[in-house]
Amino acid sequence: MSAPLILGAVCRTWRRIVWATPRLWNVIFFDLWFEGCDTIARKELLEEWLLRSGHRPLHITIGTNEAVPDESEEALLPFIDVLNAYADRWRTLKVCTTVSGVLARLRGGEMPLDGCGLSELDLELHDEEMWPLVINLTSVTPRLRKLRIHGLDHYSLEVNYQFLTHLATEYFGEDDCVEIMRRAPLLIVCEFRSMLEPCDEDAPQSVVVCQNLRKLVIEDGASEQLAPFFGRIQLPRLEELTISTDTYWHTDQKLDLAAFFDRSPCPLQSLILGNIESNAQDIQKMLAKVPTLKRFFLSARQETDMAVRDALYALAGRFQSIVPDGHLEPTTPLVSQLESLSCSSNLGTFKWDVLPKMFGLNVGNHVHSDIQASLRNVDLFLFDDDEIGVMDRDTLLRCLRLCRAGARIEINPDVILWSAVEHCSINIYNE
Ligand SMILES: *[C@@H]1O[C@H](CO)[C@@H](O)[C@H](O)[C@H]1NC(C)=O
Repeated sequence: MSAPLILGAVCRTWRRIVWATPRLWNVIFFDLWFEGCDTIARKELLEEWLLRSGHRPLHITIGTNEAVPDESEEALLPFIDVLNAYADRWRTLKVCTTVSGVLARLRGGEMPLDGCGLSELDLELHDEEMWPLVINLTSVTPRLRKLRIHGLDHYSLEVNYQFLTHLATEYFGEDDCVEIMRRAPLLIVCEFRSMLEPCDEDAPQSVVVCQNLRKLVIEDGASEQLAPFFGRIQLPRLEELTISTDTYWHTDQKLDLAAFFDRSPCPLQSLILGNIESNAQDIQKMLAKVPTLKRFFLSARQETDMAVRDALYALAGRFQSIVPDGHLEPTTPLVSQLESLSCSSNLGTFKWDVLPKMFGLNVGNHVHSDIQASLRNVDLFLFDDDEIGVMDRDTLLRCLRLCRAGARIEINPDVILWSAVEHCSINIYNE
């Protein structure tokens, strides 16, 4: 971050070279204010640095790291004016501040000559409200790809969403999230943290089909927004979904993912569900709707949450045994492409023997066993292991066979260690 300054301090010749090398100055990190700083001198410094960047595209990270006293806020605005003079060369702009006036001062000006403008924009406001101020960066964002917004609502920011592929928001209303998805048809990755209740309850509700979205992450925030949110979107290309809000609000509307996947079928490969979300699902029904699933992570720590048990039993029951006339029933097993399963659970409500069954272990002769399933990794993290008890000898042997056939099974060490100790008469190496 301070490389040009360090290089320039070596000797006079180096300094001359460094000062005349624009590519050392087009990535700038600049702290607008700190206790006791000379704002006039610092403004000149910023001007000088920017001048040295020649004609190169600029990647700028600027802002205030600490709370700025009211009387000093005014002195920050000239910095932004300096920055605005270079708006046609902004490529990456990150501003993090506690002063809304700093953000509101940003001006795009004319459309950049090269027609590119900002590719990445990251605005973060702490401890203040933006509204009714509006940042208008429409002219410099004709091809904006990545946008991250923290602490602003979407009315406070005007940008072009047309080419946006990556979006991350924090503290955005549920309706604003949907609205941006509607405006940004090329979105591939969306991350919504701390989603808030809708800003405008009476806004017209239409369904948005996000044609290109591959990855959706919803974290923190209250769970009550989930059902209405998923009721308003369709994600036909979705491959990765994470929902982990971890704040329970009593709500009559629970997110039903089976119903969502029914309405919006997608080639889902990875699914992560947190404690609140796992509880609301009919796991077997949900898994039946996502046959392409490869990675499944499930957290169910609440005492009454049976999601992990349901998942293990559903997976254990998916291989049909051979019916009397010797034919397999012609059904596709549940999530037949599943490779990894990771569960974190609070109650030992299942029996250990489901474990080898999930893999569809065909126990052959002493040396050869094979695994029917594509499943290769299972991680179980179990709390309250007293209730589970040790693994019986037969299951332990089958698990060892699975591991030799290429599976990886990881259970929190205390649980498995006791099982092994209990059955120490097994000669593990021979098996
Ligand atoms: C934002 O700026 C663009 C052009 O620079 C202009 O057309 C538009 O009306 C402005 N929007 C607002 C809300 O001021």
